[in-house]
Amino acid sequence: MSLFKKVDELRSEFKQALASSPALSDLERIRQDYLGRKGVINDLFKKIREVEAERRGEFGELINQLKLDVHDRIEKVIETHRAEKIAKSSVDVTLPGVIYQRGSLHPIEQTMRDMKKLFHRLGFSVAEGPEIETQWRNFDALNFPPEHPARDMQDTFFVQNGSVLRTHTSPVQIRLMLEEQPPIRSIMPGRVYRNEAIDAGHYCLFHQIEGLYVDENVTLGELKATLELFCREYFGEDVKLRFRPSFFPFTEPSNEVDVSCFLCSGKGCRVCKQTGWLEIGGCGMVDPNVFDAVSYDSEKYTGYAFGMGVERIAMLKYGIHDIRQFFENDVRFLKQF
Ligand code: FA5
Repeated sequence: MSLFKKVDELRSEFKQALASSPALSDLERIRQDYLGRKGVINDLFKKIREVEAERRGEFGELINQLKLDVHDRIEKVIETHRAEKIAKSSVDVTLPGVIYQRGSLHPIEQTMRDMKKLFHRLGFSVAEGPEIETQWRNFDALNFPPEHPARDMQDTFFVQNGSVLRTHTSPVQIRLMLEEQPPIRSIMPGRVYRNEAIDAGHYCLFHQIEGLYVDENVTLGELKATLELFCREYFGEDVKLRFRPSFFPFTEPSNEVDVSCFLCSGKGCRVCKQTGWLEIGGCGMVDPNVFDAVSYDSEKYTGYAFGMGVERIAMLKYGIHDIRQFFENDVRFLKQF
């Protein structure tokens, strides 16, 4: 048989092989049979010398064309297989991918962690207590008289059986002092609830970090130094602090701590109620009546306590003008932290 005829024959054999809709694995075998190093088309190239000299060019072109056709047809069939597979699959691989967004810590959690780290460096351990408290721990043991306005329905959320949603973290002081003997040097972070009118600076639930240091000879000077050190470390050297005389039933003397409002640089804004100062917490020397309630010797021990509003601190730190943003869970807000 002439070599030219052989080429024709191979072409029709190849067509037949493809006509039977071969599977992908068979296609690979067909590719090897025709285009592989030991395949039939390579054999033809080796036989060019056997063709009479004047028709060698024609023969070379013919087998080159066969080689290209075989290659193209195989690729086309493979492509058809792929398209069928995609069409059958329930997954549309041509759809744009889904971007998974990584979550981040809520700014309040972040602020609490940063504050805890700082107080840890100042020698404070961490204690915690439950959010539902007895009235005794939330009020009585903290020297609130029975008729104190803070117990009023306006401020306190009462739970069945007479317990309350704690209105501050101070009851954890009581828990700690009932469990441990001085010296105590702890902070107590947690969520608190108040039945209050909501505005840019107040919310009905918020977070506080309580601090308690009880030992012999603890002084008001140490309390001021600790809070000043904390504020400088946390807000920076330029922060201004103001201690205002105040009243809490569980401390005597008592102070309220204000920090210069970074939001308006002290000029006065909605958040600081045009005063240029933002109240971040209360503090004072532990009242001897509180020591009596937990059976500590109030002749021997003195102590200081403070309670700071975490949202207020985060607002100052991050320049946030409305406390409600912390609770709305708007991803556009949360993404910035
Ligand atoms: C107390 O809660 C005292 N237990 C703090 C304390 C502890 C004083 C230990 C002395 C010794 P006060 O009610 O002022 O105090 O609240 C403390 C801080 O919580 C405030 O300075 C403020 O920063 C924050 N705060 C109070 N009410 C709200 C509110 N509705 N929303 C957001 N933050 C608030």
